[in-house]
Amino acid sequence: MSKALDGIRIIDFTHVQSGPSCTQLLAWMGADVIKIERVGEGDATRKQLRDIPDADSLYFTMLNHNKRAITLNTKTPEGLQVLDSLVKRCDVLVENFAPGALDRMGLTWEHIHATNPRMILASVKGFGPGRYEDCKSYENVAQCAGGAASTTGFDDGPPVVTGAQIGDSGSGLHLALGIVSALYQRHATGRGQKVSVSMQDAVLNLCRVKLRDQQRLERTGVLDEYPQFPDGHFGEAVPRAGNASGGGQPGSILKCKGWETDHNAYIYFITQAAVWPAVCKVIGEESWAEDESYKTPAARLPKLKSIFGRIEQWTMTKTKFEAMEILNHYDIPCSPVLSMKEIAEDDALRANGTIVEVDHPVRGRYTTVGMPIKMSDSPVDITSSPLRGEHTVQVLRELGYGDEAVAALRNKNVI
Ligand code: COA
Repeated sequence: MSKALDGIRIIDFTHVQSGPSCTQLLAWMGADVIKIERVGEGDATRKQLRDIPDADSLYFTMLNHNKRAITLNTKTPEGLQVLDSLVKRCDVLVENFAPGALDRMGLTWEHIHATNPRMILASVKGFGPGRYEDCKSYENVAQCAGGAASTTGFDDGPPVVTGAQIGDSGSGLHLALGIVSALYQRHATGRGQKVSVSMQDAVLNLCRVKLRDQQRLERTGVLDEYPQFPDGHFGEAVPRAGNASGGGQPGSILKCKGWETDHNAYIYFITQAAVWPAVCKVIGEESWAEDESYKTPAARLPKLKSIFGRIEQWTMTKTKFEAMEILNHYDIPCSPVLSMKEIAEDDALRANGTIVEVDHPVRGRYTTVGMPIKMSDSPVDITSSPLRGEHTVQVLRELGYGDEAVAALRNKNVI
């Protein structure tokens, strides 16, 4: 069966996480992704957080599936020539170097566009134009700059960063959407374009509900679904909301049976207005369904702490999975707090290809996250990440380099 991006060739000049997460998605959609790495070193993440000596780290393998890899010193004239040949042949160049690095290499947008007017140049940077445009960035830098950290955690503690890689993989996702949209627009215009995503913007986009709350706070002085309501203090900025729901339906994380010893024996429980009578029935407070002081969402808001306290008395009598089963029966939105161990062992996630096993020539079999976007006409087979330089000769041959030319490049340490 064909794949969505069959025939699209991508120069993958990315490293670490943000860029590689983008190009991995495009590879899973069928694009031929050619990753370029530094001679002798490769992507720094190959060696970071290693669990097996001399084998590419899981950090690298889990972000670079289904790609080809070449090594090339792009700071030599010969290396730049190879790069130019690739630019002529490919559709997209994706990069996430520090600001200015591509220009310093001689690969300006003007040069790329003149060499191949159909080429799309896609970049991730830490910040957009402005005060911080020259700054480097990593995941948690973006989480702090994009509003995630100041709004995550508890009121009486410091800002907290989240485990979800919204700065890196979040930017990668945004960039992938920009790239496929630019490919689509190219059908009409025949022209490539620049696609840029700043990690700060990507995080802010994912935190837009907090900018919503900032404006609500400025207008009314309170956020009545936040834990600070009704007794706490609201300042000028959106406070950290603990585990309160970010939406219009109040929610909280509640203890379940075994919480004293199991750090993940918790459930997220949402008191959705539509199922309030069912919530009352499950916890044995049937009278609350008709009681005017509990009946409406507005009546419940000032009492959320005590309501969740009462619900927790019930959840503490059940394991998180027992509670989930009972609550699902009543359509009450909830989820057990799943550990990574539980997720890795989840049969359903394995059955639908969200958790997959991959064979790697050096490290052997390992578990990874598969393609999160399921497309009925574009199946995905997850294959191993490439070894450093695995496809250098293959790609050079495709560009027309013969044995002697390849040997000459090797002698000069260009590949
Ligand atoms: N051949 C020769 N030189 C190469 C090369 C190759 N194949 N690939 C990269 N280089 C060079 C670059 O040209 C650059 O050289 P220069 O600084 O002399 O111009 C150099 O290697 C290092 O690139 P840089 O991006 O600065 O790497 P770094 O390790 O210092 O910084 C980041 C890493 C992630 C902080 C930085 O790349 C960055 O801020 N990227 C944008 C934001 C981002 O994506 N961050 C998230 C990462 S998950």
